[in-house]
Amino acid sequence: MEKKKLYIKTYGCQMNVYDTERMVDVMAPEGYMETDTPEDADLVVLNTCHIREKAAEKVYSDIGRIRKMKDTKKKDGEEMVLAVGGCVAQAEGAEIMKRAPVVDMVFGPQTYHNLPDMVNQSLSLKSQGEKSRILDTGLAVDEKFDQLSKKDVKKKATAFLTIQEGCDKFCTFCVVPYTRGAEFSRSIEDLVKDAEKLAKAGVVEVTLLGQNVNAFHGVSENGEEWGLPQLIRRLAKIDGFERIRYTTSHPHDMTDELLKVHGDLKECMPYLHLPVQAGSDRILKAMNRTHDSASYKDIIRDLRKERPDIAISGDFIVGFPGETYEDFKETMELVRDVKYAQAYSFKYSPRPGTPAAEMDDQVDENIKSERLSRLQALLKQQQADFNNSVIGKTLSVLIEGKGKAEDAVFGRSPYMQAVQVKVGADKVEELQGKIVDVKINGANTFYIEGILA
Ligand code: 5AD
Ligand code: SF4
Repeated sequence: MEKKKLYIKTYGCQMNVYDTERMVDVMAPEGYMETDTPEDADLVVLNTCHIREKAAEKVYSDIGRIRKMKDTKKKDGEEMVLAVGGCVAQAEGAEIMKRAPVVDMVFGPQTYHNLPDMVNQSLSLKSQGEKSRILDTGLAVDEKFDQLSKKDVKKKATAFLTIQEGCDKFCTFCVVPYTRGAEFSRSIEDLVKDAEKLAKAGVVEVTLLGQNVNAFHGVSENGEEWGLPQLIRRLAKIDGFERIRYTTSHPHDMTDELLKVHGDLKECMPYLHLPVQAGSDRILKAMNRTHDSASYKDIIRDLRKERPDIAISGDFIVGFPGETYEDFKETMELVRDVKYAQAYSFKYSPRPGTPAAEMDDQVDENIKSERLSRLQALLKQQQADFNNSVIGKTLSVLIEGKGKAEDAVFGRSPYMQAVQVKVGADKVEELQGKIVDVKINGANTFYIEGILA
């Protein structure tokens, strides 16, 4: 079969990283090999994210760059198919088609299993001298997963497994319920099968993914109603899985049973990403978060009873409409109280179609920037403190790749910290994918370092 080149640019979250990997998988049987530059690719996919500020604008400017490459290729008598996928595509598909005639096809996160058909259709239209204008932004999730489960998995020590998609929470700032659709959990039977395939392929760490991962629910092999805790316990029984993580969780669905899994399952890693968004109850209410700052702190306290060393991560938004200086101070207080091992923080940015975008009292950009830099300084300090707190300890580290230096490897601690390990140049290859004990002897905000124990 003729070999073709596929370039995918991934924007945004882990869900998109996962989707990109699956797109590579579905295109492989069609003869497409991944390449790391778009210049001479036969198929270019922009796998977009709608969460960040000016997301759509960034996509249009990338489309502009790629148009030039597409034109050059055309002059040489070759075709390039340009596709826009992901959440911007889902939200603004028709608009992209109108504004960027150079785009051959637009598809949403739920339809990429149709990618081979769409690409062939596009090529056949072009060969007949017609314009390729394909738009597929349906929201039928089960069909996508049915097709994808059949694909084989590549050899790797870590893998993502999407167990749930979409969200019914409707936080007033967020587009996910509109772009990814309603909450949908995959069948437990399929998940166990996929997980077994991953373990067979050598995966030792699996990260269960979902926009609202702890809302996962389903009926087990023996007819019981299961949630995430039972699923994690079941997957931990699979031979080969030594580490299980899950992300992203909502405080609303942090059940006692799930906290207990952290306490008594060694495979469940001591790390939890639990967005809080803000520390002021008034703002949390306006965000429609369904929790307040006290109930969030209660969860963290109970979790630490189960697993005292657990690392907490979070998401924050500053400058939500109506946020006063007092409200912002409450966010800072909550951060001081919880002590985060790491976190993501953003300036509020209005998303068309969400309730918050219509709210009065939008906060001035300069105030948002100032609050964000104060919050980030505090979070950075906490991350450095957390990293420093493991100096002198021996941690188990899963080696994922080569390190910064010739004689070093890179891995992750149980707490999700990036770790640089000096091992000697001769060992760099053989340690890939292995879990090793590392004596930590240095730390900064971004990573920790050590030597084999
Ligand atoms: N403005 C700023 N940040 C946002 N996020 C989601 N929507 C917005 C928005 N409109 C942030 C939230 C969420 C993370 C993935 O992105 O903190 O948890
Ligand atoms: Fe968006 Fe809120 Fe759902 Fe998270 S829980 S995906 S922030 S609506």
